[in-house]
Amino acid sequence: MDPKGKVAVVTGGASGLGKATVLRLLGKGARVVIVDYDGDAGQALAAEYPDATAFAKCNVTVTEEVTAAVELAVAKFGQIDILVNCAGIGSAERTLGREAPHDMERFKVVVAVNLFGAFDMSRQAAFKMAQNVPDVDGGRGVIVMTGSVAAFDGQIGQVAYSASKAALVGMTLPLARDLSSAGIRVCTICPGIFDTPLLALVQDDVRARLAQSVPFPKRLGQPDEFAHLVEHIVSNAYLNGEIIRLDGAIRMAPK
Ligand SMILES: NC(=O)c1ccc[n+]([C@@H]2O[C@H](COP(=O)([O-])OP(=O)(O)OC[C@H]3O[C@@H](n4cnc5c(N)ncnc54)[C@H](O)[C@@H]3O)[C@@H](O)[C@H]2O)c1
Repeated sequence: MDPKGKVAVVTGGASGLGKATVLRLLGKGARVVIVDYDGDAGQALAAEYPDATAFAKCNVTVTEEVTAAVELAVAKFGQIDILVNCAGIGSAERTLGREAPHDMERFKVVVAVNLFGAFDMSRQAAFKMAQNVPDVDGGRGVIVMTGSVAAFDGQIGQVAYSASKAALVGMTLPLARDLSSAGIRVCTICPGIFDTPLLALVQDDVRARLAQSVPFPKRLGQPDEFAHLVEHIVSNAYLNGEIIRLDGAIRMAPK
């Protein structure tokens, strides 16, 4: 699918990997609905491209807000062709703490945002995509989910995060199979360590150590490299049901 003239919805689009995806898709001529619960950042980004964007302030864990975001996309631009799920949160808590076991509510919140939020957006956006006029292959839409290398090599303290991301990996093929009759492709990108606002909080020496732990190239990933892969997945009609690590060959150590 050529992104030019298409309508994309990007969750977590106000920051980091999502924002880079918004900018790249805009650059390729798509119109983009930025979905984020950070109202200020989302609105500021959308204001820079008033004709080609809309902003939906939405917590992806609230199904009515997901519905409203999907409806906004259709009302403003007529349809949805592309969904990129980037909204996500991290976690750092071991299964056994000094005083108590892992907090159960925190585990549920991470899974709610990273897994339930991505599934809710996917099912509701796919319902709209299924109404699109098909292309020559019968294609009607593309969904990209953002996993993590933590789905495979989760570190100490990442039990909730890894579980949520591994679930996205596990969901990719059945989602692609479910949606094949509607002509909707589904792929999941598993990033390694990317230089996003999430990581800007980390001290310089820690960032340098992280960069050194990447076999090649010895640096953090740039958000536009993630967005570039999103563009490729959208454009390559034969890519479906696949999980792609984007990580400079890193394999995370236990800690
Ligand atoms: N940066 C990395 O190194 C890295 C590595 C692997 C995977 N990832 C994944 O990539 C995705 C994007 O991460 P990032 O580094 O760009 O982070 P980020 O914090 O820069 O961006 C995440 C965005 O998601 C939004 N968001 C969070 N919870 C939300 C919710 N409930 N509803 C709506 N929006 C919500 C935030 O407001 C923010 O704008 C996440 O799913 C993350 O797990 C990132």
